[in-house]
Amino acid sequence: MNGMRAEPEIVLKGIRKSYGSQVAIPGLDLECARGSFVTLLGPSGCGKTTTLRIIAGLEQPTQGEVVLAGRTVYASGSNLFVPPEKRGLGFIFQNYALWPNMKVDRNVTLALTEAGLARDVVDGRLREALGKVQLEGYAERYPSELSGGQQQRVAVARLLAARNSILLMDEPLSNLDAVLRTEMRGQLKRLSRELGATTVYVTHDQVEALTMSDQIVVMRGGVIEQQGTPYEIYHHPANRFVAEFIGDPRINILPATLRRDGTSAAVELEDTTIPLPFVPAHAPGPVLLAIRPEAVALLDGLSPGAIPASLDVLQPTGAQTIASLNTKGARVTALIARFVQTLAHEKVWLAFDPARIALFDPQTGMRIASTST
Ligand SMILES: Nc1ncnc2c1ncn2[C@@H]1O[C@H](COP(=O)(O)OP(=O)(O)O)[C@@H](O)[C@H]1O
Ligand SMILES: [Mg+2]
Repeated sequence: MNGMRAEPEIVLKGIRKSYGSQVAIPGLDLECARGSFVTLLGPSGCGKTTTLRIIAGLEQPTQGEVVLAGRTVYASGSNLFVPPEKRGLGFIFQNYALWPNMKVDRNVTLALTEAGLARDVVDGRLREALGKVQLEGYAERYPSELSGGQQQRVAVARLLAARNSILLMDEPLSNLDAVLRTEMRGQLKRLSRELGATTVYVTHDQVEALTMSDQIVVMRGGVIEQQGTPYEIYHHPANRFVAEFIGDPRINILPATLRRDGTSAAVELEDTTIPLPFVPAHAPGPVLLAIRPEAVALLDGLSPGAIPASLDVLQPTGAQTIASLNTKGARVTALIARFVQTLAHEKVWLAFDPARIALFDPQTGMRIASTST
């Protein structure tokens, strides 16, 4: 790192938030790089909305500090609190909150005219914003005259027109049908990039997180379990919770036994020994073997390191097929990268791609690293 490294646009330091005696966030530190798309991902109640509202200034933390674009906007201990409208951010929430009594043009430009921008500037921004969300010609409609997806695009246009450097979005796509959701995912990602904005996006949907983000922050119980790129979160989950939360179909997690002899290591699963391409930094004994369904291959015949299994059910989804299998003592899901309705034999052997095997500590759930060599 040299001195050129940009200041992060959003910094949360030691944030704690309680509601009465209930602690929603025990202590959270987060940095979002300027211009990045950061997704807060986790199950319902894990503190995503609370964190976003703290950034926005809609919620005051019990403790900690919030810094936006180098400016401290909240610090416990001092009386510093910059209100939401003075933080230079735009937001979009699950219910798009358009004003029902105002036409599209007024909904998009209200904040601009209230800020005293000149008429021609406002008109220019309106035209550009409606163009970007493909709603030219809709300026004179009331929200009730638009579909859900169109209303959502008006909300996006309003964000665009405001040109804030920070965008906050809380589950903005959850009211849309599946087709529209996929389309809007791409659109929001593109818009955030075009604006060069720093975006914090909240969702419980791991597909949204994987498809849209530069960084994913996985949360549970008000705590960050892992922050990383979608690739890191998917391929190198820090613990069992992250591994299981990300990926559909779910990652396989199987009880196994670690064996090692100085320079090499293997795991035993049922009656099969699978050599590992790395030496884990963990004592021999019980471990959890984790392998993604797409890293499980189905073989017709016995091969070293392959596990005998029988087919339970095949579920073709179009481009791929989910295969559910039973080994002697476990259920394993495999993902076949084509449309399959029947297998030649119900008895198969499962080959795990050794490079895709991860091990977790059965007690702590933490990922077991390799010994550095
Ligand atoms: N206004 C509130 N009063 C009391 N508890 C709240 C309030 N808002 C949120 N909580 C609690 O804080 C926790 C985190 O909530 P939230 O941030 O809304 O989670 P998420 O958005 O991840 O679903 C939950 O346990 C929730 O019940
Ligand atoms: Mg929420």
